[in-house]
Amino acid sequence: MSLLNFNTEESIGSVYSVDTATLIVKVNELDKLRKLQVNHLVAIQSAKAGQSLIGIINRITRKTADEGKEDGELLEFSGLSNTENILKVNLIGTLIDRIGTKTNVFKRNLDSVPEIEALCFSIEGDNITKFMQTISSTSNYTIPLQIGRYSISENAHAYLDGNKLFQRHAVIVGSTGSGKSWCVANLIEQIAKLPMANCILFDIHGEYSTPSFQANGIQHFRIANPSDLTQDSRLEKGILMLPYWLLTYEEMLAMLLDRSDSNAPNQAMLFSKIVFKEKQEYLTSNGESTLANIITIDSPVPYKIENVINELKRLDEEMVAGARAEKQGAFFGKLTRFIQRLESKSQDKRLGFLFDLTTDEIETNWLERLSISLMACSLQNPINAGVKIIDFSEVPSDILPLVVGLVARLVFSVQQWTMRAQQHPISLLCDEAHLYIPERINHDSASELGLKSFERIAKEGRKYGISLVVISQRPAEVNRTVLSQCNNFISLRLSNAEDQAVIKKLLPDNLAGLTDALPVLDIGEALVVGDASLLPTRIHLNEPTLKPESATVKFWDEWCKDTNKQEITVAVNSLIRQSKI
Ligand SMILES: Nc1ncnc2c1ncn2[C@@H]1O[C@H](COP(=O)(O)OP(=O)(O)O)[C@@H](O)[C@H]1O
Ligand SMILES: [Mg+2]
Repeated sequence: MSLLNFNTEESIGSVYSVDTATLIVKVNELDKLRKLQVNHLVAIQSAKAGQSLIGIINRITRKTADEGKEDGELLEFSGLSNTENILKVNLIGTLIDRIGTKTNVFKRNLDSVPEIEALCFSIEGDNITKFMQTISSTSNYTIPLQIGRYSISENAHAYLDGNKLFQRHAVIVGSTGSGKSWCVANLIEQIAKLPMANCILFDIHGEYSTPSFQANGIQHFRIANPSDLTQDSRLEKGILMLPYWLLTYEEMLAMLLDRSDSNAPNQAMLFSKIVFKEKQEYLTSNGESTLANIITIDSPVPYKIENVINELKRLDEEMVAGARAEKQGAFFGKLTRFIQRLESKSQDKRLGFLFDLTTDEIETNWLERLSISLMACSLQNPINAGVKIIDFSEVPSDILPLVVGLVARLVFSVQQWTMRAQQHPISLLCDEAHLYIPERINHDSASELGLKSFERIAKEGRKYGISLVVISQRPAEVNRTVLSQCNNFISLRLSNAEDQAVIKKLLPDNLAGLTDALPVLDIGEALVVGDASLLPTRIHLNEPTLKPESATVKFWDEWCKDTNKQEITVAVNSLIRQSKI
């Protein structure tokens, strides 16, 4: 028995032309046309028995004898003159009466295309409820991921396929205040409840790192700020140090080298030679001489930056024996500026999380401890929660890309070096992605290297069970290579035309029309497209229980109050100490 039972008389019209997944339907009666709305669903008779095709109305054009030539493109495509009532419909799937023992199965593929003159029916009233309930059936999921309710039928819950959403990278975009952070909180909340969840959220503005954003399964970290540098057992307290010795040779140079300096090649060459030697010596003095012979300059092996500085200084001042008297060594004075930069960086308190290390942070097993903190997961063990939120809000913005990229690279490398059978999938949620996965980069800069980590994960991550969720208010400024690898889109309201265009380009052709709705979406309403969602459609997202600290400040309301909560003295103090606590 078919879910949608239509009588021939109920039809709203018939198929006039077909183009792969787009149809033009001719509507005979103006009354019927009036009742239809863009984004509503229609069913079309299929050539195969026991099936109907399901489509979304993309455009409605009324018969006009006298109006101007709007919809030129549509008319041209349809071959109709502007004298018919027509609908443009995007086909989105097939409803099959029965497959094996299952009845009323909706599939996203189109097994058949409708024939010319096939009848078309509007899915409304009881039918829409019945249809959406079929779609919302949770029987496919062990623990369903419920994100909201369908805008076309508020009674029907909208679920996403959690496998597909995280498998092949996802995107969450929307202008400021459209509800992105709430959407992320909504996902995080549900992920945190899974017994073996594993994801890391890069919290760039500290929105999810407030004391109120806490729950079982969520663990907070922050990159060490200047006042954390006096603390001990930092890792146990959730304070992350990212030692300089984890940086690759290129990353170090991106931070230290001034390529416009005529001595830059010498500086780079000597730096690499000395660092490599220091790494080997560290291993040899720890009884690991075999390992010392196989490492490369980029291997994450500790070394002492003081030793490197001292050796560079020696070379910079070296005098060698000459024919008659002592003369200046080959590198005399050529390293001075490099040494100055290295010294000033290594003493910069804001970069303390890289350079101000305790002895246990310059030990090989420190990388293991860091990786376990970031990647081990188990709901039973509170110090290994499934969701890790890392607060980057105090990292200087010029090196933010390098630092976020470093964390992503570490996780990717560990994942890559895990035996396939043991790989536990992990997802990186990248909030404010335009800041560190940018479309335009200054070549030669540290941000380019950070970006590389993300590009690799976007391209190869799937093989190693690591995926990205790219979150941004400016999709037009997010790297296109990374975006084009993403297969699921949750797009909240986007008011900027450039941003809309980017999203439109990423969607399959027949669905691009859906993006017309982007600027008119409600707050907390999203257009969800991709294989994780059965229907490419609008969804009112649920409110999360845990609320991120909103970045939306209510100016007028604040100005209307009798009191002012800002403590400027405290702020100035924090500014001087470069730490909010
Ligand atoms: N799903 C939702 N339902 C209802 N209101 C929402 C929803 N999402 C967001 N809002 C409202 O919009 C405000 C801004 O949301 P937020 O997620 O902080 O936006 P963004 O991160 O995109 O700047 C929230 O403080 C809340 O009042
Ligand atoms: Mg936000």
